[in-house]
Amino acid sequence: MISPITRGCRLRRSRIAALGSYLPEKILSNADLEAMVDTSDAWITERTGIKERRIAGEGQATSDLAYEASRVALARAGIDAADIEMIIVATITGDMPFPSTACFLQNKLGAVRAVGFDINATCSGFLYALYIADGLIRANVHDKILVVGAEVLSKVTDWQDRSTCVLFGDGAGAAVVEATYEDRGLLSISINSDGSMWELINIPGGGSRNPVSPETIRERMHYIRMKGNETFKVAVRTLEDVALKMLADNGLASSQISLLIPHQANLRIIQATAERLNLPMEKVFVNLERYGNTSAASIPIALDEAVRSGRVREGDYLLLEAFGGGLTWAAALMKW
Ligand code: ACO
Repeated sequence: MISPITRGCRLRRSRIAALGSYLPEKILSNADLEAMVDTSDAWITERTGIKERRIAGEGQATSDLAYEASRVALARAGIDAADIEMIIVATITGDMPFPSTACFLQNKLGAVRAVGFDINATCSGFLYALYIADGLIRANVHDKILVVGAEVLSKVTDWQDRSTCVLFGDGAGAAVVEATYEDRGLLSISINSDGSMWELINIPGGGSRNPVSPETIRERMHYIRMKGNETFKVAVRTLEDVALKMLADNGLASSQISLLIPHQANLRIIQATAERLNLPMEKVFVNLERYGNTSAASIPIALDEAVRSGRVREGDYLLLEAFGGGLTWAAALMKW
């Protein structure tokens, strides 16, 4: 049945009806890392804010984490998996090069009516997926879409490289996104990319550029490589710009934002953005001390925790923002 784009003078838009998240049980602390590479709890805490991260079990793949987060989101939304029309999984650590992790997830959920596909936009992936879902809902193509960010980064982390292995963790977050005619939901979303800076963060081996070979394995090319300090500077500048533009485009002052939900990569990046936006840290949601950088999963996990801990009330304006390899970056404005 085709539903209208407006109801009375109310516009059709998308809203997050419910969220779910899942973090694997195993905790890897900074003290554990001290025994693995030449690092210290003091360095990691001071330079990143991270104290511990979760690590998926031996047999756990990304769709397993995505499934746990998704079934919680569906239960909280009171929706049967068979009512979901589309599944979009944002990930850079899919179960296999193909089929898509979304297809594995569809099968596990029994979402028999859904069409599923993955998108790769690194840490901005969840907001990219939300952008697609929002567009399809506004255009009246779909009513209910499951948007998931899920990663098992521990399997592409070089545990001999202290400059990256202290940063990442595993996890998944899922959102049931549906059509609404109420005066709330996703107000605005912006996604961006700049491929000229692809060298800042990548996994060089294992694709068609450098197919798996004894040499790519010897050179450890199947693991994440990052020029951390250069990435840091670009991230700070880009996140400030995209957040300020989102507010200006929507005629909102930062004082009207109840909570900033940033991608959880580095506490110093988050603090710099908050400062530029003139937001006190009480208005910024931070959980990276417990989970590290979970890439595409970080925003839905943070939003889920913010909602469950009572930090989000109906009518609140929320600002979400992310930055990652590609380069990619994104921001979204929601009225809860
Ligand atoms: N323990 C101890 N020392 C370390 C460690 C470590 N774990 N890692 C690096 N160092 C050393 C370096 O070797 C260097 O030593 P040197 O001065 O003798 O050469 C020194 O610490 C400073 O290194 P920097 O890289 O300049 O440190 P910086 O302050 O930039 O912090 C970090 C590094 C945490 C990686 C930071 O740059 C960062 O967070 N960057 C942005 C990450 C990000 O946002 N990525 C995007 C998303 S990820 C994705 O898309 C998949």
